[in-house]
Amino acid sequence: MALINENYLKLPGSYLFAEIARRVAAYKAEHPEAKIIRLGIGDVTQPLAPAVITAMHAAVDEMAQAETFRGYGPEQGYDFLIAKIIEHDYAARGISLANDEVFVSDGAKSDVGNIQEIFGVANTVAITDPVYPVYLDTNVMAGRTGALGDDGRFAGLVYLPCTAENGFTPALPASRVDMVYLCVPNNPTGTALSRTELKKWVDWAKANKAILLYDSAYEAYIREPQVPHSIYEVEGAQEVAVEFRSFSKTAGFTGTRCAYTVVPKAVVAYTKDGQAQPLNKLWNRRQTTKFNGTPYVIQKGAEAVYSPAGREQVKATVDYYMTNAAIIREGLQSAGLEVYGGVNAPYIWLKTPNNMDSWAFFDKLLTEVNIVGTPGSGFGPSGAGYFRLTAFGNRENTEEAIGRIKTKLSI
Ligand code: MLT
Repeated sequence: MALINENYLKLPGSYLFAEIARRVAAYKAEHPEAKIIRLGIGDVTQPLAPAVITAMHAAVDEMAQAETFRGYGPEQGYDFLIAKIIEHDYAARGISLANDEVFVSDGAKSDVGNIQEIFGVANTVAITDPVYPVYLDTNVMAGRTGALGDDGRFAGLVYLPCTAENGFTPALPASRVDMVYLCVPNNPTGTALSRTELKKWVDWAKANKAILLYDSAYEAYIREPQVPHSIYEVEGAQEVAVEFRSFSKTAGFTGTRCAYTVVPKAVVAYTKDGQAQPLNKLWNRRQTTKFNGTPYVIQKGAEAVYSPAGREQVKATVDYYMTNAAIIREGLQSAGLEVYGGVNAPYIWLKTPNNMDSWAFFDKLLTEVNIVGTPGSGFGPSGAGYFRLTAFGNRENTEEAIGRIKTKLSI
């Protein structure tokens, strides 16, 4: 008799964005005429940069000739891309990394989901609350939690609330924790942590032999100088932090798939008898066994993001989304709503009017003004009474959505 991994049964029925898609499809089936504007899932709408497209075309042509055809590439990524990543994303900020500390992949979602495999199941995990569901769900699947309680919290997991009351700044854990997920700039709240705040985390991790799993997928949206672009800008972080980066939100690769994870060789976790083991070696072992590398054509496209033309084009697209963020932020504020985020991130986090339940506000927005957002409670118990909109729509839809909220929504 084949047994299942019963940890999966602890999870709620469907992944948050799948549930939203289901509800929207049901509404659309009943109201085929509705002009629905989707500002729910953080998926980009603007095309890939011309420099990226040109590089991909050239790479496709290489694949058409026996002399330049490529089969399996290095599981860790091609050196031509890794060299550009290190030069532009790290060396330019005074951070020194070796080529074999960077692992190119097919997405930060896969990497943040897979990384927990190299850690012990007995580790105590802390997540900020609300949180990107992948950190939580993958640890539930692996058996690092107990059951989901009536309060919406999994037993055995440490929740670090981030609400308007604490300025969306998580407090250091009050009890023993071994692994902490931090996302800066934050998905879903759109807020960020300063260098001073991050230094507290690095010092705490060092003192507790804990690991920081630092998701920096929205780094390109940082506008304020006190927010570091990389955790490695903080002294000591190369001993305790793994950093995840993505081309998805930076350069429109959500459908194209390319990301990378930095695992410095100095980051260690321990065997039960206290021997330090470098995570770099374990992650390399995991990736070479389970992953066959990101396609050559895609990596050539990602490399072009760092060309002079690519950098300019990608920056223009990020600026475009940040203008959307300002339109949403200011529009909602003028509609009388309490709004957070959208300054260093493409997400706007709002307090639901009259403390309305997040899913009730989702339904209200969908049915009254045909706008799809994401209920804050879907990201965790501390997201209750909040709601997320993304700045990744096109300009026309973003302006139309805010116009509808201001003029047609009964708040
Ligand atoms: C989101 O909407 O939170 C993002 O699309 C998540 C992701 O990047 O997977």
